Amino acid sequence: MEKTLLIIKPDGVERGLVGEIIGRIERKGLKLSALKLDIIGREKASLHYAEHEGKEFYDSLINFITSSPVVLAVVEGEKAIATMRKMAGATRALEAEAGTIRGDFAMDTTKNIVHSSDSAESAEREIKNFFKPEEIMAYKLYL
Ligand code: CMP
Repeated sequence: MEKTLLIIKPDGVERGLVGEIIGRIERKGLKLSALKLDIIGREKASLHYAEHEGKEFYDSLINFITSSPVVLAVVEGEKAIATMRKMAGATRALEAEAGTIRGDFAMDTTKNIVHSSDSAESAEREIKNFFKPEEIMAYKLYL
C-alpha cells in the first residue's frame, strides 16, 4: 500500500473546506493514516518546498504556507499518490478540471487549496518532515 502526504493549505482551512476535502478522500476509499491541524514553521516549509527555492513564487509560497493553520494528513491506499494527485487536480487553477479539488475550489496557483506528494520519494521525505512514526496509525478500513 502506498502512503502520500496531503496538506490542506491555509486557504482551504480558512474557507472551511476541511470537511469537504476529507469527505472526498473517505468517500473515494482512501485511508487516513494520520491527521492533524498545525501551523507550519519556516524551517519545515523550506524543507518541504526545497525544490522551488529560487523560483519567483518561492517567497510568497513560503509566506503563504506558514501564514495560518493547515491540515496535514497521511493518505494511504493502492496507488494513493497518483489517486490523490488526480483528485487534487492540476496545480494551475485555470487548468484544473471541474470535479477535482482545485478545479472546484481554486482560482489561484499559489493559493490552490491542497498539496499532495508527486512521487514515492517525495511522499517518504514529506511524510517524515511532518509526522513522527508513532503518529501514523495502522488499522483496517471497511468499505
Ligand atoms: P504544491 O502542489 O503545493 O507544490 C508547489 C506549490 O508552489 C504549488 O502547489 C503552488 O502552490 C505553488 N506554485 C507552483 N507553481 C507556481 C506558479 N507558477 N506561481 C505561483 N505559485 C506556484
